Amino acid sequence: MKNIVLGVSSSVSIYKACEIIRGLQGEACEVRVIMTRNAAHLISPRLFSALTGKATYVELFEEQMSQHIPHIDLARETELLLLAPATANLLGKLASGIADDFLTTFYLAVDCPVLVAPAMNENMYLHPQTQANIRKLKAAGAVFLEPVQGYLACGVEGWGRLASPEEIVQCTIDSLKMSESLKGQRILITAGPTREYLDPIRYLSNRSSGRMGYLLAEDAVKKGAEVCLVSGPSQLYPPRGARFKAVETANEMHDEVQGLISEMDVVIMAAAVSDFSFVDFSTQKIKKRDATLGIALKPTPDILEVLGKAKKKTILVGFAAETEDVEAHALEKIRRKNLDLIVANDVSQPDIGFDVDQNQVSLYTPKGLLKRTEKLGKREISRIILDEIEVLVERSKRK
Ligand SMILES: Cc1cc2nc3c(=O)[nH]c(=O)nc-3n(C[C@H](O)[C@H](O)[C@H](O)COP(=O)(O)O)c2cc1C
Repeated sequence: MKNIVLGVSSSVSIYKACEIIRGLQGEACEVRVIMTRNAAHLISPRLFSALTGKATYVELFEEQMSQHIPHIDLARETELLLLAPATANLLGKLASGIADDFLTTFYLAVDCPVLVAPAMNENMYLHPQTQANIRKLKAAGAVFLEPVQGYLACGVEGWGRLASPEEIVQCTIDSLKMSESLKGQRILITAGPTREYLDPIRYLSNRSSGRMGYLLAEDAVKKGAEVCLVSGPSQLYPPRGARFKAVETANEMHDEVQGLISEMDVVIMAAAVSDFSFVDFSTQKIKKRDATLGIALKPTPDILEVLGKAKKKTILVGFAAETEDVEAHALEKIRRKNLDLIVANDVSQPDIGFDVDQNQVSLYTPKGLLKRTEKLGKREISRIILDEIEVLVERSKRK
């Protein structure tokens, strides 16, 4: 039995929640319902309690629950949170981090996959504020089951109709399966920039924020993998559920990766490792008057190339950030470094790649181009990359 929580808000399509509950129960899911207070104006919580055989949660501060912190207890055992139907109001509150009732507080407390099926009048759905809220929630990891076009309760045809209960149930089951698709795989992910020190306070680095690698780590955990994230300096918070190692220099990253490689099934090198470090390091701050204008650099170890040369079964995935001839450089790298997959992007364009939320990438295998994405949020790019890694993992299991 899978533990699903169904969050229900006050849309006119609330009656379809009953069919969703029945559908999920038919797929071996145990369902618990949380309603917003407004939803309880439309349908009695008792109906959901009768359907699920469990108490329905509406109020955060219930007298009989005072011995426990129910939203935290429930969050611990929840394997998927499904919000259906989700009102415009609910999306706005969740996107802003408001936690003023049981459902919105619960959303912040879970670390399981979140699936959202909105339902509302077309104008409400297409309102720029609603669309901005949806984008925010997607960036935070929620998966949306977009509403469909059709007859709306307000008496017109348009966008905003809740996806069908069958589709919602199917999508929930697919998401649950996906949460196990990399189960048992040990994945090492590197992220962020490195820093190469000239003296104790000055360093050479790059514009990488670490976001791509952190998202990959977060999504791989959600797919059931055992993840170790080795990160250069980044402002990001380490993803829940991943082992985390902080490093600074290319040499430290190299040593950390070498120490872990024997335990790993997959390595994803998303870090922007500095290609150069300084020939000389001064243990004291270099004074302006002592500085010469020329500073000598030397290459840092090429972590992926070293791994590629010693490779046995580990799946190796690299990134190529290029400013020209992206395809030629990507293919040269994949062959020279003996990689299974390379994710290439053109960092000469200011709106994609480094330190921005969007990217557009091309995936190559040693045979050539596999897939070229459109401009997408890094979260979507992360999912596309992990889907291809899943294919490689399946293939290597069959060998
Ligand atoms: C009969 C009725 C039907 C409604 N249907 C919807 C709906 O489908 N989608 C929506 O976003 N809001 C709908 N609303 C408006 C919401 O109920 C309202 O914005 C409410 O404040 C949302 O509260 P909640 O998100 O806490 O449930 C409806 C209101 C009424 C009275």
